[in-house]
Amino acid sequence: MKQGERAVFASKLGIILATAGSAVGLGNVWRFPSMTGQNGGASFILIYIACVLLLGLPCMLNEFIIGRRAQANAARAYERLAGGTPWRFIGYFGVFTGFLIAGYYVVVSGWCLQYVYASVSGDLTGNLTGDLAGDSKIISNYFDTFKADPLKPILWLVLFFALSHYIISRGVEKGIERASKIMMPLLFVLLVVIAVAACTLPGAGKGIQFLFDPDFSKIGGSVMLDALGQAFYSLSVGMGCLCTYASYFKRDTHLTKSALQIISIDSLIAILAGLMIFPAVFSTEVIDPGDGDGLVFKTLPYVFNKAFAAVPLVGNIIGVLFFALLSVAALTSLISLHEVCTAFFHEELNISRRRGALVVTIIGIIIGIFCSLSFYKTEIGLFGMSLFDLFNFVTGQIFLPLGGLLTCLFLGWYVPKRIVREEFTNQGTLRGRFFALYLFCVRYICPLAIALIFLHQFNLL
Ligand code: TRP
Repeated sequence: MKQGERAVFASKLGIILATAGSAVGLGNVWRFPSMTGQNGGASFILIYIACVLLLGLPCMLNEFIIGRRAQANAARAYERLAGGTPWRFIGYFGVFTGFLIAGYYVVVSGWCLQYVYASVSGDLTGNLTGDLAGDSKIISNYFDTFKADPLKPILWLVLFFALSHYIISRGVEKGIERASKIMMPLLFVLLVVIAVAACTLPGAGKGIQFLFDPDFSKIGGSVMLDALGQAFYSLSVGMGCLCTYASYFKRDTHLTKSALQIISIDSLIAILAGLMIFPAVFSTEVIDPGDGDGLVFKTLPYVFNKAFAAVPLVGNIIGVLFFALLSVAALTSLISLHEVCTAFFHEELNISRRRGALVVTIIGIIIGIFCSLSFYKTEIGLFGMSLFDLFNFVTGQIFLPLGGLLTCLFLGWYVPKRIVREEFTNQGTLRGRFFALYLFCVRYICPLAIALIFLHQFNLL
């Protein structure tokens, strides 16, 4: 379906599911639980929710407003609203960030596919003996060996990028929208099934307590930045992704309502992911929930296997479902990163959409290969971090909040208020009761809060 010359999402539901599909991803199921684990559980979740509402929501609206107004890819969108001024670099910066995120994101996505395969084939749990310490070592070694393999993870990541390429090259409505409409409900069902199974395990209560009973003494130094970065990351805010999607929204899409719906879905799924992971983890005594990727790729397979050991095969089935779920969530997010870059090449270089998508796929795969190889050869990295960790840290904790901050300054102080209001109220057809509050957040609260968190983090304050 077209609106003027530009593709649009055909239905309201499509808009919500596609955008929520971008938001819900590895960020919810892999990154959020490990951040929560590292930062002490419930207290982190509270700060996280505050960041989502106070900073994530206004920044999401910013991108919606810019994208729908400008009807263009991220780079050109800023340019259209700021004609020839350096503000357009926010857009370029976004596309650049998109490549870095996609590059390491696809590596983790590839791991998920491998784990679906390994759970089905029994590779993952076939050798377990029932001995606690020994088994957890076997699974742990499995992951370390696999991730540092020079070839296998790369094959999976190429396959995963190819899937994303296929969807993207089918277009906005037939590709992104249709895929999201199938995958998002599937994801939700899988998640609920596993969460219910996990919460009924003996000892699950401790995990639920960890999630909902805050202990403020556990709040460490970088909690604020971690929560802020995680909020932006999880909502896909800060690099023009939502801006690109919003350029496919219809003129009468209610932006505030859509943003609230997307944020609710995203947060609900993050909490559900916590409810599926921590009860399972706490029900088997050995586990340290603080470990990063280990939580999902080492701890969980072991936990599923042990926790559901009473009934044969259930552990394996849950394992397969879980990694299938993670792959689906990752795919709907990767396509949004893919789309940002594809729309950029397609419109800026005047090449066809398919060709644009191909360029992105090739560059993305190359970055992905380097990220993956940084586990094989640890020299591939900078500042003492592997390339993978570096991209994860730099994009999540620095580039996204920075992108969000610059966008606030742009929309709050540079773009004429009249234009912002027009877009916020759908050309005056909505009352826009929250406009003043929104603008206040964008002008003052968000920039100050983000700046303070940065300064604090880097010990300048
Ligand atoms: N939000 C996704 C997740 O939670 C990841 C993602 C997709 C993303 N597009 C993005 C993150 C754009 C930042 C910016 O997994």
